[in-house]
Amino acid sequence: MALANDPASEIQELTQRINYLNYQYYQNSVSEVSDYDFDMMLERLQQLEHQHPELRLPNSPTQRVGGTITKSFKTVFHKYPMLSLSNTYSEEDLREFDKRVRKIVGDEVEYVCEQKFDGVAISLTYENGEFVQGATRGDGTRGDDITANVRTIRDIPLQVHGNDLPESFEVRGEVFLPLQVFEQLNAEREEAGEQLLANPRNAASGTLKQQDSAIVASRRLGCFSYGFMSSSSPFDTHSESLQAIQKWGFKVSDTWRKCSSIDTVLDYINEWEQKRHELPIATDGVVVKVNSYALQEELGYTSKSPRWAIAYKYPAMSAVSRLLEIQYQIGRTGAVTPVAIMEPVLLAGTVVKRASVHNANEIQRLDLRLGDIVHVEKGGEIIPKITGVDFSKRPADSMPIIYPTHCPACGSELVRAEGEANFYCPNEEGCAPQIQAKLEHFISRKAMNIDELGPKTIEQLYRAGFVHNVADLYDITFEQLVNLERMGEKSANNILNSLEKSKQTPYDRVLFALGIRYVGSTVAKKLAEHFTDIEALRGAMFEELIAVNEIGERIAQSIIQYFSRPEHQELVERLKAAGLQFKSENTAPEMESNKLEGKTFVISGVFESVSRDELQRIIVSHGGKVVSSISAKLSYLVAGDKMGPSKLEKANKLGITILSEGEFLGMVN
Ligand code: IVH
Repeated sequence: MALANDPASEIQELTQRINYLNYQYYQNSVSEVSDYDFDMMLERLQQLEHQHPELRLPNSPTQRVGGTITKSFKTVFHKYPMLSLSNTYSEEDLREFDKRVRKIVGDEVEYVCEQKFDGVAISLTYENGEFVQGATRGDGTRGDDITANVRTIRDIPLQVHGNDLPESFEVRGEVFLPLQVFEQLNAEREEAGEQLLANPRNAASGTLKQQDSAIVASRRLGCFSYGFMSSSSPFDTHSESLQAIQKWGFKVSDTWRKCSSIDTVLDYINEWEQKRHELPIATDGVVVKVNSYALQEELGYTSKSPRWAIAYKYPAMSAVSRLLEIQYQIGRTGAVTPVAIMEPVLLAGTVVKRASVHNANEIQRLDLRLGDIVHVEKGGEIIPKITGVDFSKRPADSMPIIYPTHCPACGSELVRAEGEANFYCPNEEGCAPQIQAKLEHFISRKAMNIDELGPKTIEQLYRAGFVHNVADLYDITFEQLVNLERMGEKSANNILNSLEKSKQTPYDRVLFALGIRYVGSTVAKKLAEHFTDIEALRGAMFEELIAVNEIGERIAQSIIQYFSRPEHQELVERLKAAGLQFKSENTAPEMESNKLEGKTFVISGVFESVSRDELQRIIVSHGGKVVSSISAKLSYLVAGDKMGPSKLEKANKLGITILSEGEFLGMVN
């Protein structure tokens, strides 16, 4: 951002920019700049306001903790404000902090060092040992009541036992999406041709704000607790409280350590700079806290942060390089992804020359030009990304990036559906990289697993004009194969055998292999369980599709769209004729009775003794039918824990009989 040089305009620009970034971060879970850049902007604003207090604007972000409150959850006031921590990036500042502390409370000070977890702050309230409320930080004074979602997190006890329990207390912690789960979620999204989640923190924050707590439960969020608050604390020190809450059942990371001097604090920081990458959650620094509660009280607070704690942040893993080119990759669904090609640069131990730019909007937002000197960062995400441009070094001959209007591979005009960030090449039948990517997906391990056919052979077969779509693979002949370059008879035979063997691949994997947009392997399994053959699936109406657990409107629409195209119908017919499996084996539920014949059910919420799938199976096996929406014709609503309030309200209005889990099971047993 080019800043004005008179203080009044600079203050105004910074205020606007930081407020916007805060809005994006807290409302939309998007971080548009690195933490470092954000902190630098905030620091600059603080400095200017300090020099010119009369110029400070009433909405200045320096006057609040940060963030605002989202509308869709109930707003709750925090009993104890959720403050932030002052940040530092240098040893010098840490020593200053230590000096300030010792000046006030004397030299007998002990610190506790902890990891600074990069997730979402949470406040957990307990009354008489029972978990009663979970809230986000919001603006520090008021946050969102996300109790229902918090209940799904296993690291948070719902009932606490212990003889030293105060009647009412709060625990503070950080909710996170374990890195492994994040990677798995993204792998699933990639498979399904969906946009990837930017990083684990955004994913965790987005998950916590889901309206459906069943989705939250499925994401396996974790929580590290790091703070205890109560009006009558039974503890004298922070370390005692950490030990106690761990005993009570909270998950406390065992990475914390007591340090008796600032030098041992620095040892801790150095020790963890590398080791932190082995933790299940991204961390971006170390929090140093004065251990004694009495001394904490003596040190007190500023309006935004405690004087008894400080966060040391590790420098971001970033580097600077020159942007040489933007390449456009066409995926199997036709999605166009811009990839930045840069001069090779060392970043966090590896040489990097490609970085992701996500989509067309990102190029505009960053104001990227060819030849620019760019900042590249590697955060929680696996692929490095461009986070900014050094405008002061922009070469005079830098070239604006003109986003292609036509597919760079086949020349078709690109399309962009409303509300989508990506452009797509619609030429499914004739765009070479798209066709090859579809073929590669089809043969991949989780799909048909045709291991003898690698991407190289696929390319050769496509170039030779033998294969245009996945059905053509089953028409390849021995002669066609042996005539390919570097192909011996043995390999040709192996390929044919491998293709033959693939005909036994189970139906759900065949469905996944078709590459229908948004149908990843998990969704394909669900579909195959419910629609036990392809006829049932391709004839399914929208309503029937969304009645299946985990199949949403977007997936349903995509399936309907897929089968509406004659070329896809023909493809499926050819694959069927080739002998592929288009039927689930023995998955049709056995009929146990016809007790529920003629009855329709809506299942909502989370259940204790059975899964939703199991409930669905039971209903069908007793002759009942599961539907997705509540109407006057509905026979029963089976209501689990945490079902959506709107569903409940509608059912009550229409006078539908609502069954608890126990009541329903009683009906069939
Ligand atoms: S203590 C008043 N301990 O950092 C201090 N915070 O900038 C309360 N955080 O909102 C926070 N790890 O989300 C504390 N070990 C840790 C932490 C931690 C991460 C986050 C927390 C807070 C932010 C403060």
